[in-house]
Order: sequence, then C-alpha cells, then structure tokens
Amino acid sequence: MTKLNIAIFGVGAMGTLFGSRLGPLARVTLFGNWAEQIDTLRRQKLTVTQPDGSQTHHRLRATNNLNELAPVDLALILVKSYQTARAARQAANVLRPDGLAITLQNGLGNLEKLAAATGPERAGLGVTAQGATILTPGHVRHAGEGPTHLALLPGREQQIMQAADLFNAAGLETTLVENADSLLWGKLAINAGINPLTALLEVPNGQLNLDQKLRQIMADAANEVARVAVAQGIQLPYANAALRATEVAQATASNRSSMLQDVSRGSLTEIDAISGAVVRLGRHLGIPTPVNQLLLSLIKEKEKRLSVQHSNPMILSPIF
Ligand code: PAF
Repeated sequence: MTKLNIAIFGVGAMGTLFGSRLGPLARVTLFGNWAEQIDTLRRQKLTVTQPDGSQTHHRLRATNNLNELAPVDLALILVKSYQTARAARQAANVLRPDGLAITLQNGLGNLEKLAAATGPERAGLGVTAQGATILTPGHVRHAGEGPTHLALLPGREQQIMQAADLFNAAGLETTLVENADSLLWGKLAINAGINPLTALLEVPNGQLNLDQKLRQIMADAANEVARVAVAQGIQLPYANAALRATEVAQATASNRSSMLQDVSRGSLTEIDAISGAVVRLGRHLGIPTPVNQLLLSLIKEKEKRLSVQHSNPMILSPIF
C-alpha cells in the first residue's frame, strides 16, 4: 500500500510532535514560515525530549515552499488561530479532491475558516490534549501524553476514520466522537481556564492548582464557558468544567501553556479565539462572562506591552 501524503501546517511544538510520530508511517512534510526552524530541520534531525526525559531523534521533511507539498491526502492544521485563514487557503491549494484537512487547533472559528477554503466535505475537526513545548529550533519537549479526539463529521467519515487509525498506529491515542461542538467547547473551557492565567503569571500549568485564589479564577473562567455552551444547547463532554480544568492543569503540570509560549517569544496569542470568542458569544446570548472579559483585557494589555506588531504579525510570529 502506498504511504499517505501528509502535510502538517505549522512547524512549532505540536507540528513537530505530530510529525515525529507520523513520520515512520506516512510521507510527512511540515510546512511553515519560521525560517530558523525549517533551516534547522533540514540540517539536522528533530530532537524530542520525551515525557520520561529520554531523547529521540527524527528526520523530518520541512519546507516553506507550497509547491513541494502537492498532492496531499491529509493536511493537519496546527498553526496559531490567527493564521488559520491563510493556512486553510494554502491547504486547499495542495489537497487532493478527495483529501481531508483537519484542524487540531485551540479556540473557536477554525473549522469554519478551513471549510470556507477547502469546502466543507474536505474539512475536519479534532482536539488534542497532547502537551508540547519548543525548547530551541530543532528541539521540542513532549510534556505529556493526552488523548486526541476527532469529530465524525457527516460526509467524510471514511477519511476521518482512516486518520484516527493512523494516529493510533503512531501511538497518538485517538478516539472518534459524534458531537463536534461538545468536543470543541470542552477544550475551550479548559483553554479559557488555563491559558490566559499561565501567560499572565508566566507559570507552568500545574502552578494554578497550588494557590486557592488562582484555582478559583481558573474555575470561574471555565464555568463561564460552560454556561455559554449550555445556553446554545451544547453539552460538554464532562459534568464539571472547573474540575476538568483542574485535572488538565494537573495532568500537564510541567507544561508551559501555548499562550505562555506565545508571550514568552513576544508573539500574538490566541486570546481572541479563546476568551474573546466566549465574551462575544456570551454578550450575544446575555450570559455574563466577567472573568473571561478581564483575562481578555489583561492579555491584550500584555500583548501591547510586549510591543507585538499587530500590523504585521509575521515579523515576530512565524507561522507555527
Ligand atoms: O494550549 C495549551 O497549552 C493546551 O491546550 C493545554 C491543554 C492547556 C495544555 O497546556
């Protein structure tokens, strides 16, 4: 059987982690704009520091040239949420007519942008609880194993099941779920609880559980998301959002959240697709979201102080 041709959009922590796992099973190419990372991956193998501290090394194909990708059977979208529209257009250009592009990103709105570019029949959605951190170009730390869920969207079940089989064969524990909204909002509540707070305080996820006040803020933010979800008739995949956020913070205790990694390198964050989306929808539905509003304002202020160049995010923020 010929190997699947997989393109991973994003050469950051999650892109390289998924690339390292899928590489032995498929023809995988990472695509992005982070020149230093791409140069490093072309010169030397990727180093992955595994959760147990051991190191593994992986030869990865990486490029910033879209022409090196076509034709793609499966595209994984692992760029930052503010880069989704562009990555989606690029994926649409290289995807086979019967191919599938799956967003595995944080936040709301990514599937819609992907589907607008590829057509809904070629767009898929997943969430992953894998935790990874870039240490230096060419070196990623896999902070913790977490399950990946793929939504069984109608009309593309076969490709989605094939992707799930491939992920599982690659040791990325993956489960299929029927309800995409439940999946997305389940992750959103966790991200809204953990990401802005860890980025503001510049602490790893586990620190949020060690202080009663911080745990309460994390719980309040997650519960607001749950209320906005319920008001739309969306049932979360767990009973208690605050408890789930606490559990994930514990399971990923040593991980620096993706938003903390963003602010650490002076880059834009995904706050608009996380807390921003919750605040906007809450306002629309008449559900108060004061904690998310405050976290949104504070992260925006932090972005300004880091003198992020909003007019040209690519200056400071490579496509990850
Ligand atoms: O964005 C992140 O960092 C991750 O989604 C999570 C689960 C919060 C772990 O760090």
